[in-house]
Amino acid sequence: MSTAPFRVTRLDSAHNRSVFDCASEPLNQYLRERVTADIRRRVTVCFVALAENNRIAGYYTLASASLLLADLPNAVGKKLPRYPTVPTVRMGRLAVDQAFKGQGLGGALLADALHRALRSEIAAYALLVDAKDETAAAFYRHHGFIALPDSPLTLFLPLASVPQSSE
Ligand SMILES: CC(C)(COP(=O)(O)OP(=O)(O)OC[C@H]1O[C@@H](n2cnc3c(N)ncnc32)[C@H](O)[C@@H]1OP(=O)(O)O)[C@@H](O)C(=O)NCCC(=O)NCCS
Repeated sequence: MSTAPFRVTRLDSAHNRSVFDCASEPLNQYLRERVTADIRRRVTVCFVALAENNRIAGYYTLASASLLLADLPNAVGKKLPRYPTVPTVRMGRLAVDQAFKGQGLGGALLADALHRALRSEIAAYALLVDAKDETAAAFYRHHGFIALPDSPLTLFLPLASVPQSSE
């Protein structure tokens, strides 16, 4: 994953969300209209990558989640304790504005999310993502994520496999 010259910070009311365009209207609309209410209800946090003039170049959301042990691939699940669920962190949404695509920002935001999950004082086994389509799933597989056997658009990356030195 490459890093790009952007500043990553929590979304706040000073950031202009109206011009953000990642070519996916549901992801644009979520940032424009819904994320603030979700943050207020404490069901998500949102981080933005800021380019020059504080323009939002990309964003992602994070929340606690759990995964059924039985949904993991057998080879992975058998190495974990026999509790019904496994604690995870879910990156619910990830999007890069079209003007900034292909510059390493998506990969950099993914790395940022992984390191935030690793630095947390609350245990999580993996970062979990819901890919919106096969193209997004291919992006996550490119970065080492593993699809759930019965749900190929849900993918996870064990945090123990993330090199801590790249923080
Ligand atoms: C998917 C998305 C976040 C990628 O962002 P980006 O900034 O263009 O991607 P990057 O430039 O960081 O690419 C990083 C790496 O991923 C690879 N990559 C990008 N898209 C890929 C894809 N669909 N399949 C496989 N690899 C992909 C790049 O080739 C690059 O590889 P490298 O590091 O080995 O050179 C962006 O295209 C986007 O916002 N798409 C619309 C919303 C979306 O699909 N979100 C996904 C979550 S549902």
